Amino acid sequence: MRVVQTNHWLELAVFRYLIYMSICKLCLSLPFRPILKNLAVLLLIAGLMSGGGFISSLAAAESQREHLSLDANWKFHLGDDWPDALVLMNSGTGGGPASEKFSDSFWRTVNLPHDWAVELPFDWAADGSHGFHTLGVKYPTNSIAWYHRTFDLPKEDEGKRIWLTFDGVFRDATVWVNGWCVRHHEGGYYPFREDITDVVHYGGKNTIAVLVDATKVEGWFYEGAGIYRHVWLDKTAPVAISPEGIFVQSKFEKNLPQGSPEIKVEVSLLNSQTNDATATVNCEIISPGGKSLKKFSDSEKMKRKSQGVVKFESKISAPLLWSPENPQVYKLITTVSSEGMGVDQKETTFGIRTVAFDPTNGFLLNGKHYELYGTCNHQDHAGVGAAIPDALLEFRVKKLKEFGCNAYRMSHNPPTPELLDACDRLGMLVMDESRLMGSDSANLKRWDDQIRRDRNHPSVALWCIANEQFMVQDTPQAASVACTMQDYVKQLDPLRPVSYASPEDDVFRGINSVIEVRGWNYHYGPQMDRYHAAHPTQPNFGSEQASVVGTRGIYTNDHSAGYVAAYDVVWPGWTTTAESWWSFFAVRPWLSGAFVWTGFDYRGEPTPYWWPCVNSHFGILDTCGFPKDAFYYYQSWWTTNIVLHLAPHWNWPGREGQKILVQAFSNCKQVELFLNGASVGKQTMKPNSKLSWQVKYAPGTLSAKGYDDVGKVIAETKVETTDAAAQIQLTPDRKTINADGADVSVFTVSAVDAQGRIVPVAQNKIHFSVEGVGNIIGVGNGDPSCHEPDVYVPTAPSYNIPVAKWRWEIGTIPKNRNVVPEYANDFDDSAWKQVSGGGPTIETENTSAIYRAHVKLTEDDLKGEGAMICFSGCDDEGWYFVNGQLVGESHDWQAQPIFDVKKYLHVGDNVIAVGVYNGVAQGGLNPNVNVQIVGHVTVAPWSRSLFNGLAQVIVQSTRDAGEIKLTATADGLAPATASLQTKPGTLRPAIQ
Ligand code: GAL
Repeated sequence: MRVVQTNHWLELAVFRYLIYMSICKLCLSLPFRPILKNLAVLLLIAGLMSGGGFISSLAAAESQREHLSLDANWKFHLGDDWPDALVLMNSGTGGGPASEKFSDSFWRTVNLPHDWAVELPFDWAADGSHGFHTLGVKYPTNSIAWYHRTFDLPKEDEGKRIWLTFDGVFRDATVWVNGWCVRHHEGGYYPFREDITDVVHYGGKNTIAVLVDATKVEGWFYEGAGIYRHVWLDKTAPVAISPEGIFVQSKFEKNLPQGSPEIKVEVSLLNSQTNDATATVNCEIISPGGKSLKKFSDSEKMKRKSQGVVKFESKISAPLLWSPENPQVYKLITTVSSEGMGVDQKETTFGIRTVAFDPTNGFLLNGKHYELYGTCNHQDHAGVGAAIPDALLEFRVKKLKEFGCNAYRMSHNPPTPELLDACDRLGMLVMDESRLMGSDSANLKRWDDQIRRDRNHPSVALWCIANEQFMVQDTPQAASVACTMQDYVKQLDPLRPVSYASPEDDVFRGINSVIEVRGWNYHYGPQMDRYHAAHPTQPNFGSEQASVVGTRGIYTNDHSAGYVAAYDVVWPGWTTTAESWWSFFAVRPWLSGAFVWTGFDYRGEPTPYWWPCVNSHFGILDTCGFPKDAFYYYQSWWTTNIVLHLAPHWNWPGREGQKILVQAFSNCKQVELFLNGASVGKQTMKPNSKLSWQVKYAPGTLSAKGYDDVGKVIAETKVETTDAAAQIQLTPDRKTINADGADVSVFTVSAVDAQGRIVPVAQNKIHFSVEGVGNIIGVGNGDPSCHEPDVYVPTAPSYNIPVAKWRWEIGTIPKNRNVVPEYANDFDDSAWKQVSGGGPTIETENTSAIYRAHVKLTEDDLKGEGAMICFSGCDDEGWYFVNGQLVGESHDWQAQPIFDVKKYLHVGDNVIAVGVYNGVAQGGLNPNVNVQIVGHVTVAPWSRSLFNGLAQVIVQSTRDAGEIKLTATADGLAPATASLQTKPGTLRPAIQ
């Protein structure tokens, strides 16, 4: 539980708390409770008013909220092997894995976030816009999967509300809890939450089953498949803060950061009790430095099963403003007590800053023009696909910041909350985008969920109602829908602007005519000036620009290999180069800056090619986050660093004497190029441009000097012709990570020559192994045409042996676990009837029968991991025996029991016997019984080829502290080993 360190008055607060608790206890044990209880409340209020740290300490001790991660230890099965699992006839009776009784023992264990699409092979016939993974309508067996896990709830939780939250599942999810279908959720990007209190077992085991159907797509880019964001179990008191129930807003007069901003807090409460309740809400604002600044308190009476809202307003003097350069965050601690007892506490991060779009001065952050150096990004990274661990999200935000990016467009869907946390913390503005435009109730509900969830994040500067609605955008209907969505924002979040990413040029119709801020996807040029002149009151910004294509480390186009030269010279028809679009925007402050398509490469959209190319080429960084040359172009003009970078590398054997295009990316006033010490020429850099030379290739050193405006050398760089690769090098981005089973370190793998220089053309295949308290979770290399696996998953061969030729006989069976001779192997059933056809065998109610069958197994069958017997159920109750041993029973005619029976089986003939009792109508044992054999689990060793000298390995900690050792080997190269330390730290509260 969290105790706020409110410095000097902490001890006093603890003392007051102890007194308060003693009085509470006394009150509750005495007949004159109300009076004394009021006394306790008075004392509490007195404590608050006297400025102690009382609020937080009280709640910390008594808050009944537990926010628990459910990410660990899910069981996973790929394939729709139980199409009848969703039972619509009756409640609480999910079939197959949806049933509480299902055995998942041989399913693979996975931790969330998990994306199974990234595990699938590539196929030229698959959907290229999604990255050619074998997923979708053509691959039904790869497109549906099950997740399964159990959790215990202690008896003491009885009376609490239990909530299950999925931050995002791709795509359609059906969720069962203890066999009850609690939710069907369509769509891949929105969070969904259910109050599962009614169907949980207190003091026992609970089962969650999730059927995920990723057959349908939503975008035209890689979207992943599976539970690819976090899952949470929340326990709250029956009187508690509502889900997403806190909104903190800071408001300056005239939206200019002068004087003291008003802090408006809205706390929504939920009374799930069947009697009325009064809730007292206490709020405390903590400064970025950890100081308690303000406290306020109010009460709300709520009827039984109802909601309430408490609102506060306060001012903060001399606030520390949030900005990407100085991301100062405040905290609001909200504490709720009811009937004199603390019941809930939540911590909300918020920032104080102003955002606005001005038609003349462009985007204003904290009242001043602030150029948006933005990038658009999908949720996709090498190795892990759409299932990006939180630490990797942070890694990505930091990579973007390295070249000056200060704004992130969540294209084209709501983000995962941890990405917004990283943007708040590290300083990155956000355009928060909806997936679809629509004013129907379902879409408005999704929009509502998204806004309420994300509106406290200081990083979120702008909402985007949609991207490129080509078919409808000019229509009056689309204008009306846009108005409805825009107005919706104004009600829930009045201080943030709203936009639409429009693919049109000088068009002021439909959505463009009603949207607050005009977003421009491409069409830079005179049409923008014309539009601005004609509509001078509408602010503008580039919602999507560039889309220049390039492959890291490649300097000639190669259609058959799927590579594009990275010189900033190739772009599809609707787009342009980095230099062109940025030079146009840079001199027009009213345009506010823009978002480049894209920061990182992503799977799918392999423009300008198709198979064998499986990735996009748009990124400033490749899929691993390795910089392309464009990185240095943007770094030159988007940062104040002194930048000097040369392209290409200087390893061109066989091209001696031929001209090679050399480019310098720099913000120096002049750049002089040298080949092997001789000047090739000095050129003056025009702002926002780059420099080029044609240089006759000779191996050696290509170097450059950058000069300032008085001719002083302020930067030097060189590229050298290297020798052949001799040794592998491993470099982790962090050498110490948390031992929490979630944190990751991102290793750069390179090949260096004998002098330790990275060989920029090395393509060696590298093999990896890991020892100690960590695991590899993904590998990549940024090669857009690489078809090597990103993940190596454990697999076990599995096959079914049908149990057929059943014989049966009506007879009396014990309705308990007792064994009768008919179950035994040596019983002679030759005179029994043979079961034929699929209909019921027992014709009358209150009748029982015994069924017997034989199954022959070989040594090979029993050599593997396990063997299960899978029944299709029986009508109504059954007792199941293998070789005379009871292996399980079922008492529900819809159950399809599966039993782990390896230990009961032997090589040769095995007898399966089932005693069935039919209670009503007709019944008997259902046909279709199989022994499922699961072979040995094997995992292929991890490996990945270098692409132009580099590859990436993502290593995740376990929950044990210690050392992780990554070893890399390759034919002909000296191996490398690198170590990480994992240290115990704060563990995210979790159910393991
Ligand atoms: C845009 C679209 C993006 C991406 C891009 C490629 O029109 O909004 O999602 O497809 O084109 O250039």
